[in-house]
Amino acid sequence: QKLKLSLEQIEKGGYEHFMLKEIFEQPKSIHDTMRGRLLVDEGVIKMAGIWDHVEKFKNANRIIIIACGTSWHAGLIGEYLIEEYARIPVEVEYASEFRYRNPIITDKDVVIAISQSGETADTMAALKLAKEKGAFIYGICNVVDSSIARITDAGSYTHAGPEIGVASTKAFTAQLTILTLIAFKLGKHNGNLGNADFMSLIAELDAIPKKIEDVLSSTHELVQNIAKDFVGVQNFLYLGRGYNYPAALEGALKLKEISYIHAEGYPAAEMKHGPIALIDENMPIVIIAPKKGHYDKIVSNVQEIKARKGKVIAVVNRGDQQVSEMADYVIEIPETSECFSPIVASVPLQLLAYYIAVYRGANVDQPRNLAKSVTVE
Ligand code: G6P
Repeated sequence: QKLKLSLEQIEKGGYEHFMLKEIFEQPKSIHDTMRGRLLVDEGVIKMAGIWDHVEKFKNANRIIIIACGTSWHAGLIGEYLIEEYARIPVEVEYASEFRYRNPIITDKDVVIAISQSGETADTMAALKLAKEKGAFIYGICNVVDSSIARITDAGSYTHAGPEIGVASTKAFTAQLTILTLIAFKLGKHNGNLGNADFMSLIAELDAIPKKIEDVLSSTHELVQNIAKDFVGVQNFLYLGRGYNYPAALEGALKLKEISYIHAEGYPAAEMKHGPIALIDENMPIVIIAPKKGHYDKIVSNVQEIKARKGKVIAVVNRGDQQVSEMADYVIEIPETSECFSPIVASVPLQLLAYYIAVYRGANVDQPRNLAKSVTVE
């Protein structure tokens, strides 16, 4: 019998969908993004784009990150990273808002655009505006030689490889990897990140691909089973604090993009200013609760949810007790420093969105109404 494989099947490398393949590629894509840049033994981060213009960054009044969609979520985490480690003020804006609101930009500003495709129309227009006003513009793109990569003054590519699934997964974690490298590099250079901390953080970053491998193998089946219980729901809430607040936004976006279930992400403390009114026994709530990062506060949030009979799916560190005892479903991930937790926590959330969508019979790689690259307004 003739073995007939379509080109697409070959490209999917044995996975049912590109999205699943891309989720599983993350140990490699993160590693590829760090390769040649993170030199742990030498205690060096090499990034020519940053280094050649390091004075621009050092003397910047502020950094403005502009992006859309998932890339905007990466930008929010970038703000936490750069402010914490390099102590440079950062603002994050939707490109579509930035371009039309007559923003105040000067030649002391550094504008970083984040874009997987490098072709998003709003991001491109926002960058052109910033450039006209004299800002130094930096690109974090995945597609080599894309329009955004070409108009920026400098940049760093995410080496995630081609991303086919419309819902972004490996490009997102590669963007976080670049932003982490930038934050550490700038912090080391401007003296806000001491050598000992720098050395231990880069060693930890170097080990992230291994931790992602671990998360993929230890949570894949579990998350698949959890997904079965939520195929019929209509709403989902995602909560996190600190670095994991944007991870909650991204988790919710993944779910709504591909499963068409209404999902909202919130900073956990904001729950009491609205979303708590929605909580009852029919409301599933994904809560990201690693040990490092406001854990005690998250414990109280989980208590408030359980008092209202919400269904809690908790992403916790291995060996966790307090949240795990209260949660209805527990997904364990390895412990990391707080700044790395969104990279690690995002992986089971991608899987959760993926399997819920698959069980609902949705077209995960090409969800309705969405485009991979939005080149029109
Ligand atoms: C579209 C895609 C998203 C992506 C966003 C920004 O909405 O479906 O996955 O996050 O555009 O795209 P970019 O290529 O600029 O990162």
